[in-house]
Amino acid sequence: CGDRIALTPPMGWNSWNCFADQVSADKVKRAAQAMVKSGLIDHGWTYINIDDFWQNHRDPKDLALHGKFRNDAGYIQPNGRFPDMKGLADDIHQMGLKAGLYSSPGPWTCGGCAGSFGYEKQDAESYAKWGFDYLKYDWCSYGGVINGMADNDPNKVPSLSYKGGNDLETAIKPYRLMSDYLRSQQRDIVFSLCQYGMSDVWKWGGSIGGTSWRTTNDITDTWASVKGIALVQDKAAGYSKPGNWNDPDMLVLGVVGWGNPHPTKLRPDEQYLHFSLWCMFSAPLLIGCDMEKLDDFTLSLLTNDEVIALDQDALGKQATCVQTIGDLRIYVKELEDGSRAVGFCNFGLEKAALNYNDFKKLGIAGNQKVRDLWRQKTLATINTQSDKIAVNVPAHGVLLYKFTPVKK
Ligand code: GLA
Repeated sequence: CGDRIALTPPMGWNSWNCFADQVSADKVKRAAQAMVKSGLIDHGWTYINIDDFWQNHRDPKDLALHGKFRNDAGYIQPNGRFPDMKGLADDIHQMGLKAGLYSSPGPWTCGGCAGSFGYEKQDAESYAKWGFDYLKYDWCSYGGVINGMADNDPNKVPSLSYKGGNDLETAIKPYRLMSDYLRSQQRDIVFSLCQYGMSDVWKWGGSIGGTSWRTTNDITDTWASVKGIALVQDKAAGYSKPGNWNDPDMLVLGVVGWGNPHPTKLRPDEQYLHFSLWCMFSAPLLIGCDMEKLDDFTLSLLTNDEVIALDQDALGKQATCVQTIGDLRIYVKELEDGSRAVGFCNFGLEKAALNYNDFKKLGIAGNQKVRDLWRQKTLATINTQSDKIAVNVPAHGVLLYKFTPVKK
């Protein structure tokens, strides 16, 4: 029943943006506990996903310390920081949450741990047996496979680098293979493709059983990164639908740092814009921060139900930019109830101030109720033919409004 899962974008947490190669079962469990204790669990946040580095690393020293990659039957052996994968998934489920993990179709993951190449069947079986609900499947070192360098001998290391430009069938093959094995398990497992938008993945990801797919490269906690990613999402927008989501990568809010913890370098207005746009994009929402260091501001961003509702809207339509006025980009997202969400997104360094009445361009007509979603406040009922609204957006900030037709 792979086509019936994740009918709204998955929401949860992933270990990479804060712990990177320092992840452990203990840290994952504490993140799950914080998800419950902070109350985030009551706002739709569900998945607790282990990223890279639960497997053994190809570094012979690390391997000597932690054991071997796989047992004699080819079943993967987690590293010493993950003594009991089933126990961990059980604990996460007992808290009312779901569990995820990560692998790569090459012999090695992006971080150089054991990947799934040649052992896809055993890996899918292990994930299901342990009770995992979500797999993020990367691309790293599959380029080595294509070039005939595949080898599970750690001394013969194929390149980890991303290799695009291959023919479409070659690009699809490893994902179709893993997807088929996942779908033959007695378990619903979200299948998240992580290959950076190569080969226009949005055009075929759904047809091979993918739930979501990365459209762009890795995010970092800088304005340049968030802006660069945001500006190119429209290319894939038409392919977003229930069960099939474009993934602009994880959220860089709160304390992040890939092993060097620090508060996100995004300014507060940039954080509003980042979260607003990801919701407008119907993106999988994966918190990337240290869950035990959630501050009030970050929590307020992650618990605004009216903003989250845009992401989780059942129609599953991704917003696109329908108008630009200087550095102001106006995004529109159609919603199931006939409303439209409008994001006035200021990518410029100056504040944007204007009286706006170009509602036709936004597909909005007649009398409309205008609600400010961040402030959770209804502003007015307007006549779109005669009225104007004041749009004041701080630099790198956003106004997120919902327009609902008012019946006369
Ligand atoms: C890639 C992915 C990241 C993360 C790392 C792990 O870079 O894009 O999100 O999973 O690999 O090594």
